[in-house]
Parts: sequence; structure tokens; C-alpha cells
Amino acid sequence: MKIATFLGARPQFIKAAVLSRLIQQSNDVEECLVHTGQHYDYGMSDIFFEELNIPHPDHQLSVGSGSHGVQTGKMLIEAERIIEEEKPDIVLVYGDTNSTLAGALAASKMNVPIAHVESGLRSHDKTMPEEVNRIMTDHVSRFLFCPTQTAVDNLKKEGITDHVYQVGDIMFDALKYYTSADKIPETIESLDILPKKYALCTLHRAGNTDDISRFRQLWAALKEVSERIPIILPLHPRTRNVISKVGLSFSDNMHIIEPVGYREMLQLERFARIILTDSGGVQREAYMHSVPCLTLRDQTEWIETVESGWNQVVGVDPEKIENGLDHFLTNGAPVEWKPLYGDGDAGEQILEILTKEKLSNQTMISADAV
Ligand code: UD1
Ligand code: UDP
Repeated sequence: MKIATFLGARPQFIKAAVLSRLIQQSNDVEECLVHTGQHYDYGMSDIFFEELNIPHPDHQLSVGSGSHGVQTGKMLIEAERIIEEEKPDIVLVYGDTNSTLAGALAASKMNVPIAHVESGLRSHDKTMPEEVNRIMTDHVSRFLFCPTQTAVDNLKKEGITDHVYQVGDIMFDALKYYTSADKIPETIESLDILPKKYALCTLHRAGNTDDISRFRQLWAALKEVSERIPIILPLHPRTRNVISKVGLSFSDNMHIIEPVGYREMLQLERFARIILTDSGGVQREAYMHSVPCLTLRDQTEWIETVESGWNQVVGVDPEKIENGLDHFLTNGAPVEWKPLYGDGDAGEQILEILTKEKLSNQTMISADAV
């Protein structure tokens, strides 16, 4: 069986590392990796291939940045060409980026079955480009791999029930595999900050960065937070661009650094006292590491983390951020922690399901021939 994996953004490299490693160990499956080039800085792309031993992409589309239409359109043109050339049995896509949508759309027009990993997530906010990407991808996919029961239920509400599999979150597989229990992050050693004495923050969501007055409000709130606890901010290039364009200042207690590799990021998360983020991945990694989280958005797809008391959705409201910080710094983390995201074997399950399906199709075809 030949799987063509389309990917292009940071979180997709991390998820793909899990499945690519398993595919390399398999005799039945071959993978063709297609990098759209959506992320291209060394610290946003190559570093992950190097440190996670992801095979070099078979195709690099070098699409780069652009408006949604330009970026997705260029990817679509190239994706069609590659599918024609590679003739995969399955096109596999992760998450909800423009790279996800382009791979899925090209495959669906060419009648190639699509496997969507991280299917069924919904924010119920269609102003988010990711919401549109994931709805459209789910509706053209043949195999829908959901991380949670909520995701399965979301698909059901939209009439999708066939080939829906709750396998857990493949990011949990990655986190379990790559986290070192005791390794102190190099970043805090070099900044002379002690474990559990800092907040970790990431920001990149377009809904926060592209609305300047909203971003100013958020930045002011983060400055306030830094009066109480040092903040380490590995900054996404989108956010760095906004900060330099608007000319925002930061306090001595705000440590702005380049994006870090995944292994260092896991350690920074693990040893943080609290995490503040608008990232989908970092929100649930906070939970997986048992670190409380404040979500700097107005809603979340990962509602289990909120229901269990480990995550508060605070938006950019300074008062909510301060109250949330107060809550977790004073009360500490909740006592109860449940395995919300599976057992860390989502990758194995996905591969097994796809392989079985392929074998049963072959059996049907040869039976027809007889
Ligand atoms: C994209 C995804 C988002 C995902 C995020 C992961 C879409 C619509 N959004 O958002 O769902 O959470 O990736 O990080 O697909 N840039 C660089 N260097 C790079 C990459 C980006 O400088 O290597 C800058 C460019 O100015 C670019 C901007 O960041 O315009 C935004 O990049 P883009 O890929 O369009 O969106 P992300 O915010 O990264
Ligand atoms: N991440 C990383 N280095 C960083 C920031 C994030 O390795 O400097 C990892 C993080 O641990 C998580 C993933 O990138 O696994 C999340 O990606 P991002 O926040 O860009 O996207 P999202 O998950 O919101 O789509």
C-alpha cells in the first residue's frame, strides 16, 4: 500500500514523525512525503525533520507564504500533479491547515481515498480559517481518525458516521516518545530561571495577531503577567512580524526567543508552572504534561481540558487572564488527571486500520475477478 502524506506546517511535522517511523518499520506500507512549503524557516520546518528523523520529503512544493487563496491554490495545482505521478492508494493529511485542505481537495477530485488524522474538531467559529479547512476536509475524507469522543460526536451531528475511528491523539504518541522525564530545558538554564518558576507562552493564531487592537490588549495583559512570573515566549514568525511592525515593547521579565525544536519545547512545557497559549497543540500538551493552561482565545476545540479544570479559556481579557493566573498560582493544579487523549498508540491503530482496509479491498477485488 502506498500512502502519500501531504504536510507543510510545524504541528504536522511532529504528527507525521510518529506515523513515518511506524511506516518505515512496516513491510506492507510505503510512504511518499509531500512538503507543501507552507512553513520554510529552518526553525519552523527543517529542524523537525532533523531531530525527529523524518525522512527527507520526496516532493518539496516550495509554495511559501501568501493569502489563503494564493497559498491553497498553488498547493492544489502541485498536489494534483504529484498524485497523478505517484498514484497513491491513500492520501493522508493532518489537522486543519491550508496544506491539509489542498491535499484533501486534490485527492477528492481524483477519487483517491483520503485519511484525515485529527478529524472532527470544531470551534464552531467559521471566521477561523482552520474551521473551514477541517470541515471541508472531513466531508471529503474516507477515513476519519478522531482524537476524542467529542470529535466523533461532532462528525455525527454533520451526518458523518462511516469509517469514523476514535484512536486517541497522535500528538500524545509523539509526546510520550520524545519527552525526557528529567532533562532541564537548556533555555531556562541559559536564562538562569528555575524549573516551575516561569510561564511558557506561545502566540500565533491569526484571530489574535491580525487584529492589532486585540493584539495590543493581549500584549499589555502579558506584560502584567510578567510582573508576577517570568514569561518565556518562543515566538512564531507571524507574531514576531506583528510586534516589529507595531513597535511593541516588552518588559525585562518577558524572554522572547526564536521558535525552539520539539524536544526542547516538550521540556519547556514540562517544567513550566503555567502555560498561556492560543495554540491547539500546546493547549493539550499542557494537559498531557499536567501543567495548567490559560487559553488565549474565545473558544477551544479541546473542551475536555476545560471541563477537567486544567484549562481556562480567557481570550485576551486582562481581568480573565489575571484571575486565571491567580487561580492556578494560588490553588495549584487540579488533583484529578484522566487519560483524555488515548494511550499513545494512535499511530499504530491508524496504520492497522488502513492496512486491514487495503487487504479487505484486495480480497474483494480478487473475489470479483473469480
Ligand atoms: C498555520 C496554520 C495554523 C497552524 C499554524 C501552525 C493555516 C491557515 N494556518 O498558521 O492552523 O496553527 O500554521 O504553526 O494553514 N512565516 C515565516 N516563516 C515560516 C512560516 C511563516 O516567516 O516558515 C510567516 C509569514 O510571514 C507568513 C506568516 O508567518 O505569512 C503566517 O504563516 P502561515 O503558514 O500562513 O500561517 P500560520 O500562522 O503559520
Ligand atoms: N512547538 C515547537 N516549538 C515551538 C513552538 C511550538 O516545537 O517553538 C510545537 C508544540 O510543542 C506543538 C506544536 O509545535 O507540538 C504546535 O504547533 P503550533 O502551535 O504552531 O500549531 P497548532 O497546534 O496551533 O496548530
